[in-house]
Amino acid sequence: MKLGILGGGQLGRMLLQAAANYDATTYVLENDAQCPAAHLCHHFTLGNIQDFDAVYNFGKGLDAITIEIEAVNVDALEKLESEGVKVYPTPSAIRTIKNKILQKQFYKDNEIPSSSFVITQHQSDLLSHLSLFPAVHKMAEGGYDGKGVQILNTEKDIELGFNVPSVLEQKIKIATEIALIVGMNAKGETIIYPPAEMIFDPIYNLLDYQLSPAKLEEKVLWKAQAIARKVVQGLRSPGLFAIELFIDTTGDVWVNETAPRVHNSGHHTIEANYSSQYDMLLRILLDYPLGNPDAILPSAIVNIIGSEGCSGEVYYEGLTEVLKMDNVFVHIYGKKQTKPGRKMGHVTIISKDYQDLTHKANKIKHTLKAITK
Ligand SMILES: Nc1ncnc2c1ncn2[C@@H]1O[C@H](COP(=O)(O)OP(=O)(O)OP(=O)(O)O)[C@@H](O)[C@H]1O
Ligand SMILES: [Mg+2]
Repeated sequence: MKLGILGGGQLGRMLLQAAANYDATTYVLENDAQCPAAHLCHHFTLGNIQDFDAVYNFGKGLDAITIEIEAVNVDALEKLESEGVKVYPTPSAIRTIKNKILQKQFYKDNEIPSSSFVITQHQSDLLSHLSLFPAVHKMAEGGYDGKGVQILNTEKDIELGFNVPSVLEQKIKIATEIALIVGMNAKGETIIYPPAEMIFDPIYNLLDYQLSPAKLEEKVLWKAQAIARKVVQGLRSPGLFAIELFIDTTGDVWVNETAPRVHNSGHHTIEANYSSQYDMLLRILLDYPLGNPDAILPSAIVNIIGSEGCSGEVYYEGLTEVLKMDNVFVHIYGKKQTKPGRKMGHVTIISKDYQDLTHKANKIKHTLKAITK
């Protein structure tokens, strides 16, 4: 089976690591020959994943294509699909998700709980929607890792709003943020991974680390799982999907956003679950039986993010110390250059004891740094 991946970042890299177990010849399209996935595939093509010709020519001879980022040329994928190439997730699902306006409209049309919203074209439109405040402004396209998302608490914040097509949505009083990963095969059979909980740094409001399985009230978990399945069934697309959800202070569950691909909230599944999210997506692409998503042991993920004030050739401070710790797995993505905030790698910790997970996560956070020398 000739399998193509659009995008050559760390998600593509980890997908290729899992693909090495199966009967697949792998192809990657990315416009950087030094990207994290470039050296792990059988065939690398230099090209822009947003360009029609680049995507179409890349996909023409392949049996199946998937994505590791949504910002791809969907028209080319549609043409490939119509010519018999298997494209999972479907181009139509990618189109719905990659634009936050269409994505929010999809939730509304399918009666999937998500915060109320309006569409804005210019910053000045915000003035007429003060009744939605406190609110969150999100660019329809082009945002990632929190860029393109702006919290607007009061009228004074309007000047921070976007001047491009955007969604303005009500700010939810979040108690817990979780992610649920759902896989669906061509027959419509689904699996769902145990929930992952994001733990935020109370001072900086940055993702500190992640725990899985999250300890949720049973009723809340059922609600969240039903909603996540409804999202994937509504998209009517085989593939692997990560649904980010908010649990509010009253126990209500809201969809924040969906990613139609393997996701950073599922890195731990490599070591902590029977079938990793990467393995699961490959099984779906190759028409193999679905795997077992259950956790073998609880786990935590700590991201290795480029340190503030450091730009240039990366050096991993504290690596030896972290590698000496028990049941800790280091993943370095192979990016030569670090810069503040760049995702350089992650560390997974597994343990039956949640206190041990939290303790080690904090230790790793303060020990391992992506800096420059
Ligand atoms: N409606 C909302 N109410 C309250 N908080 C929100 C809302 N929407 C987003 N946030 C906060 O902002 C964060 C980033 O928003 P979102 O997930 O939409 O952006 P993103 O650019 O996709 O970020 P990432 O790539 O980190 O997932 C959320 O994880 C949440 O903490
Ligand atoms: Mg998000």
